[in-house]
Amino acid sequence: MLDVEGISAAYGRIQALSNVSLKVSAGSIVALLGGNGAGKTTTLNTISRLVPLTAGSIRFEGQPLNRLQSHHVVKAGISQVPEGREVFRDMSVRENLDMGAYGRSDPAGVRSDLDRVFGYFPVLRDRLKQKAGTLSGGEQQMLLIARALMARPRLLLLDEPSLGLSPVLVQKIFDIIARLHADGLSILLVEQNAAVALAASQYAYILENGEIVLEGASDELRQNEAIKRTYLGS
Ligand SMILES: Nc1ncnc2c1ncn2[C@@H]1O[C@H](COP(=O)(O)OP(=O)(O)OP(=O)(O)O)[C@@H](O)[C@H]1O
Ligand SMILES: [Mg+2]
Repeated sequence: MLDVEGISAAYGRIQALSNVSLKVSAGSIVALLGGNGAGKTTTLNTISRLVPLTAGSIRFEGQPLNRLQSHHVVKAGISQVPEGREVFRDMSVRENLDMGAYGRSDPAGVRSDLDRVFGYFPVLRDRLKQKAGTLSGGEQQMLLIARALMARPRLLLLDEPSLGLSPVLVQKIFDIIARLHADGLSILLVEQNAAVALAASQYAYILENGEIVLEGASDELRQNEAIKRTYLGS
């Protein structure tokens, strides 16, 4: 479904990604793990065309994304959930969700997607008029995912959904991720929390200093001694 081949990206003289290759097959959850500054967000931003490539190629369902603008990537079926609770703080929950559907010209489809999204996140229906900036951290994370779903993606790019949440809320968010996956969504999941990400995914890549240093089936990586030491704290 998604084929990233040998991509590099830089911010001025800082090389952020070097020769990164990864695949997401249709219907799977693939995890991209690594510490602070490893290049995880940059990888998602290159796929979404928010950061330019200096080498390599990205294909989605066979189509090259390299020359598309970011809103065309969304149209092609890829939505990114940004890290760090980037809701539109001064807008209501409803307005945030409408922003996610921006550019769609099928009002009936948008209404039914809104209902579908409330099925995953019932709390958002009760808070439609509330300013997004006044939601709790967990609710903001839910709103971010809900907003991305309003574009009706086939591939979701999720950037650190567990960031700053209590263990109970992390579990709640990952239960919803599992439901989205069961309902057919493919997901590229960026996480620092390797334990939850390896449990939730089928395949995983480890990024260090902008390079993929290890990849494999998530079940196998959970047993890997180096991974246990470095990322699972045992
Ligand atoms: N806009 C930018 N300008 C300059 N350098 C940047 C920019 N964004 C990221 N970088 C640098 O690129 C490298 C990779 O950053 P990136 O945000 O992709 O890491 P990350 O793996 O997502 O980290 P974190 O887990 O902390 O979110 C870092 O060294 C970072 O300082
Ligand atoms: Mg990041």
